[in-house]
Amino acid sequence: MMRQDKIIAIDGPAGSGKSTLGRRLAERLAYLYFDTGVMYRVVTFVALARGLDVYDETLITALAEQIRIDVQPPSVQDGRENDIIVDGADVTWDIRKPDVDARVSIVAAYPGVRKALGTQQRRVGLRGRVVMVGRDIGTVILPDADVKIYLDASAEERARRRYQERCARGETADYDEILLSIQARDELDSNRAVSPLRPAEDAIHLNSDDLDIEQVLEKATALAV
Ligand code: CDP
Repeated sequence: MMRQDKIIAIDGPAGSGKSTLGRRLAERLAYLYFDTGVMYRVVTFVALARGLDVYDETLITALAEQIRIDVQPPSVQDGRENDIIVDGADVTWDIRKPDVDARVSIVAAYPGVRKALGTQQRRVGLRGRVVMVGRDIGTVILPDADVKIYLDASAEERARRRYQERCARGETADYDEILLSIQARDELDSNRAVSPLRPAEDAIHLNSDDLDIEQVLEKATALAV
């Protein structure tokens, strides 16, 4: 008999396929899918849109503490999972642009930002029946998660996937630029003082270099039920 109130944590570096896996797994289990990266991206995007200095920790932390992020059912069928709304504006695709990619790891390293966003993530996660995706879910946000998956792939493969995603959305993309950006983000995410990207001790490692999404999904489903 399948127990149906689990907490499933998926962590891993940029572009390892966490979002696709998380979304598909949540669909299969009829769980909530929660992509925590969205929150760090929204704070970064709003800071840039308001012309704030992302190196001003006090200012950015205050922004993270007061920002209201609405996640709503998709209003447009353009491949989006949800509408991400801030101050009435649809920022769903804006938060995926290269200027946000280039700065989000600076914002995500601030302890006050992590505290503010982490509190909200934990509150949702502890209700159970959730697949939560990020960098520190199994280690810090939900250390008692029932299933912890650490999904990895080589930087080249991850950059290739990100390149294809951008092209599929009709955006211009440069593979070398994406690879450099991913490597820079991995470096910052893995070396920050607070909640660095690393596998939880009890996480199950999956490498998606030689597995397609269906194969990763099968493995993850077997772990989750
Ligand atoms: O989709 P991708 O893997 O490129 O990134 P994301 O999951 O949207 O996360 C964007 C950035 O937010 C990461 O590079 C981290 O700096 C930060 N992040 C984090 O610090 N902790 C999380 N739980 C999720 C994201």
